Amino acid sequence: MLSQSQTGALLHEDHMATIETLQALEEFLGRHRSLPAVNEEAAAFLMRLSKTLREEVESHFGFEENHLFPVFTERGETGIVMMLTYEHRAILPLAVQVAELAAAAAKDGFDEQGWRDFRDAGAELVEREIFHIQKEEMGLLAAISALVDRETDARLAETYRQTVG
Ligand SMILES: [Fe+2]
Ligand SMILES: [Fe+2]
Repeated sequence: MLSQSQTGALLHEDHMATIETLQALEEFLGRHRSLPAVNEEAAAFLMRLSKTLREEVESHFGFEENHLFPVFTERGETGIVMMLTYEHRAILPLAVQVAELAAAAAKDGFDEQGWRDFRDAGAELVEREIFHIQKEEMGLLAAISALVDRETDARLAETYRQTVG
C-alpha cells in the first residue's frame, strides 16, 4: 500500500472488505448457472451481501463525497473528484438494486425474473466496483498522502470512524 495516511489506511481496509464481498458474489453467480434454490446458507449469504453493499454505497461513498472529495476540490484537484463521483453515480443504483434483490431472495427465494435481474446487475456491479476500487487504490490513496496535511488527515480519519465505523 502506498498510502501512509490514516484516512488512506481506513479506506484501504474497507476496500479490501468490499472486494471480498464482491468476489463472494461473483463465486455465487458462477456456482449457480440456473435459478438456485435458496437454502439457509444461501439466505444468510444474501442477507450479508445486501447489508454490506448498502453500507458500502451509503456510508463509504458518502464519506468520500461529503468529506474527502471537498478537500481535493479545495486544492484544485477537480479531475479525480469528477471521475470518481461519476463512477459512484453509476455504481450506487446498481448496488442498491442488487441489495434489494438479495434481501428479497433471502426471504422468499428467487423467481425467474428476479434471478435474471440479480445475475445481470450482480455481474455488472462486480466489474464496475472492483475497477473503481482499483482506481482509488492506485490513485486516490497516493493523492491523500501527497495532498492532505497531517491535521486534515487526522480530522478526516476521525470523521470516518464516526460516520463509517
Ligand atoms: Fe469511491
Ligand atoms: Fe472508496
